[in-house]
Amino acid sequence: MSAAEYTVSTWDPSSSSEDIRSLWSKALPSLEPAYAIPAEKLHSLLVAPSARVFVAASPSTPTLGFALTYTIRSGSATMPSGQHLKGGLSMLIVDPSHRNRGIGSALHDAALSYLTKAVRDSLTRSDPPAKEGSIILGSVFPRIFPGVPDGPEFEPARQWFEKRGWAFGKDKSIDLYRTIVPGDQLNREMEPLLQRATDHGMRFGAPLASDDAALYALQKKEFDGFTGWPDMFPALIDSGHRDDIHCAFDPQGNVVGATIAALYRSGSGEPRNAAHAALAWPETLGKACGIIACVGVASSTRGSGAGIGMVASAVLDLARRGADGCFIDWVHLDGFYQKCGFVPWERPYWEAQRSVTVG
Ligand SMILES: CC(C)(COP(=O)(O)OP(=O)(O)OC[C@H]1O[C@@H](n2cnc3c(N)ncnc32)[C@H](O)[C@@H]1OP(=O)(O)O)[C@@H](O)C(=O)NCCC(=O)NCCS
Repeated sequence: MSAAEYTVSTWDPSSSSEDIRSLWSKALPSLEPAYAIPAEKLHSLLVAPSARVFVAASPSTPTLGFALTYTIRSGSATMPSGQHLKGGLSMLIVDPSHRNRGIGSALHDAALSYLTKAVRDSLTRSDPPAKEGSIILGSVFPRIFPGVPDGPEFEPARQWFEKRGWAFGKDKSIDLYRTIVPGDQLNREMEPLLQRATDHGMRFGAPLASDDAALYALQKKEFDGFTGWPDMFPALIDSGHRDDIHCAFDPQGNVVGATIAALYRSGSGEPRNAAHAALAWPETLGKACGIIACVGVASSTRGSGAGIGMVASAVLDLARRGADGCFIDWVHLDGFYQKCGFVPWERPYWEAQRSVTVG
């Protein structure tokens, strides 16, 4: 099939995503059900405001392949030098019966030229204007994968991207999961992990409105440049999901750590909180799968058990609220969350990025 026999265009978010969903299932058959995404969930990821989807079509086949892209502000909403965009090529799938005909390359080029322009045009939004931006393979928020999954099924894809100029890092990141069954056994499991922090007089819980300024100050001081991270906290609070945040307080009541500990019941009909709206997998993992994310402790407090205590307390809080499991995504730490019973979920990821310069 030559380029003249198919066209690449922007997908209309008001149209049905059924073709894209069935391409997804066709492309990853040996990996489902692990990587199955409910149709409504996939649709919500495709129509997110920061998404742009490209579709390849021929006169006889409306969806030969698709590329899903996202853009996100590089730093926090209040970080002058972080206002330019970061791009993400989140997903690129070509129908297995139409591969090796240039369709993937055409989708890749369309997605990359859109993202490059979006990032380049945004560099002057930052103060001072950014000299360089970046595009990652995968995406930050919303996210399906933070890179190319590891394993023989994905190795040809990894090499395909490498040939097209993507520089892969040496280290892999992982997603983690654990089941949650409330009760004595879970309490006994978490108790020793809380001990060091409670010996230091710390306590854990959702922030009150009077804690918001301190919570935001902590995020600003420590995590301002972490793409997507600091903005998650006001996004949850402003949308009425304060209980989806769990803080560590020192003996004087100061906020010294914070994490997202979000819960959403699939099929409940309630609007998703910002964390569940952003991540693909919790709803595949369970009917009430919690999310722990953006786990951070003030530099001056690190090493005193606040971090692990806060995660253990967040697990207990999710259990109390009815979670049946918990997902922690895109982790580089070695062995930290495993102390709280989390185990790697599915494949590790190879991360890759490319830079976008002024022009
Ligand atoms: C990671 C972080 C939350 C840990 O908090 P902390 O309060 O310093 O950690 P704790 O004192 O509770 O450590 C408890 C245990 O975890 C271990 N640990 C701490 N940091 C770790 C790390 N980065 N990697 C692996 N293990 C770690 C400690 O060695 C300790 O082990 P021990 O009980 O066997 O002695 C904190 O360092 C932080 O805010 N880092 C920056 C943000 C970040 O990277 N977050 C994770 C995003 S996925």
